[in-house]
This record gives sequence, C-alpha cells and structure tokens, in this order.
Amino acid sequence: MIARLRRSIDFVRCFVPRDYVGVMWEVGCFQGQFTRLLREYFPQAHIVADDISDAALAIARRNVLDIEFRQGDLLTIRPPKGDVVFALECIYYLEPEERVAGLENLTRLCPRHLVISANITGGQYVTDTWLKDEMRKLGYVLQDRRTLNFKFRLLNLLSYLLPVVLTSRVAFANQAIYLFTRKST
Ligand SMILES: C[S@@+](CC[C@H](N)C(=O)[O-])C[C@H]1O[C@@H](n2cnc3c(N)ncnc32)[C@H](O)[C@@H]1O
Repeated sequence: MIARLRRSIDFVRCFVPRDYVGVMWEVGCFQGQFTRLLREYFPQAHIVADDISDAALAIARRNVLDIEFRQGDLLTIRPPKGDVVFALECIYYLEPEERVAGLENLTRLCPRHLVISANITGGQYVTDTWLKDEMRKLGYVLQDRRTLNFKFRLLNLLSYLLPVVLTSRVAFANQAIYLFTRKST
C-alpha cells in the first residue's frame, strides 16, 4: 500500500469511529485506492466517491464494491448530506481562481469534518496558510494536521534536530493532511 494512503487512513481513524453509519463523501477518488481503505475500515458507512474522470471511475468500480460512484466535477457536483468529506490530492487540480469555489462546494451542506491533503511545498500547489485562511472564512477550524511525506533538505534536518522548530516541520513537508471541523454556532 502507498505509505501516504496508509498514513491518511490512520489519520482518519483517529476521529471517525469504526461503527460510523453516516455518509462519507470522497471527491477525486481516482481508481479507488483510498476508497477501498474507507470501505475496509468503516464497513457500515455509506460511501459516495466522485471523480471527474470516467476512465478512472471504470477502474474504481471494479476495484471496490459497495460504493456509490459518481462522475462529476467537484466544483459543481451535488454534495451528498453527510458528516465527513475527503478531498485528497485534488484541490490543486483546479485553476487557482477556482479553488475557493471548490472548497465552497465541498462545504455547501455544512459537513462536520473536511479532510484535505495537498502538496504544500513551495507554494506551487497550495500553501498551508492559504488553506487555513480559506477554511476559516468558510467557518471551519483546523483540528489536526499531519505530515504525509517529507522531502529531505537541510531545513528539514534542522527541524528534526532542533525541538524548537519541530512544530514548523509541516511547513517544509511536501504533503500534509488536514482535518477541518465546522465551528459550532
Ligand atoms: C492525484 S489524483 C488523487 C487521487 C486520490 N484522491 C489519492 O489521493 O490518491 C487527483 C484526482 O482528482 C481528479 N480530479 C481532478 N480535477 C477534478 C475535478 N475538478 N473534479 C473531480 N475530480 C477531479 C483526477 O481525475 C484524479 O483522479
């Protein structure tokens, strides 16, 4: 199994109970690799998984059973009503000017949790600050965040060696996963 996906499902298992019976929505599911882990670890959940690519979905449908797969663009697709939404490594596929609208659509029905993973190195894809700011504007707070992959650079070495900068480790990670939770009203 890809280490990033194993780390991602471990992250999710820290806050979603195994007997969760509600709806989980995954956008950008590709060929269903993460969807399969969701199916395995949350056997009672109703899982809806979308992707824009028909070709990827055809494989996903063969790979994972008992999933509601749908073809559509995360910018416009109708969100199912559920408490947990996943957008792993797909927000940055949108044009930069479309990304806020993408996040808005994912949170349209006010899910309790939104899990996003993204490449956050060098500001090429998204940045840690951008993601947190935009989610805050949408009424979500950062609940947890974990590094998924870590490129080895001198700065990384320093952050390992110096406990004082350890907390900044995520800023230098190439991929990180975020749990955002809806602010209580
Ligand atoms: C890098 S893959 C990530 C796959 C999977 N989520 C993972 O983390 O392994 C990005 C996926 O997002 C899908 N995608 C790109 N733009 C999209 C959009 N506008 N709406 C829905 N899916 C999209 C692609 O087709 C692709 O399957």
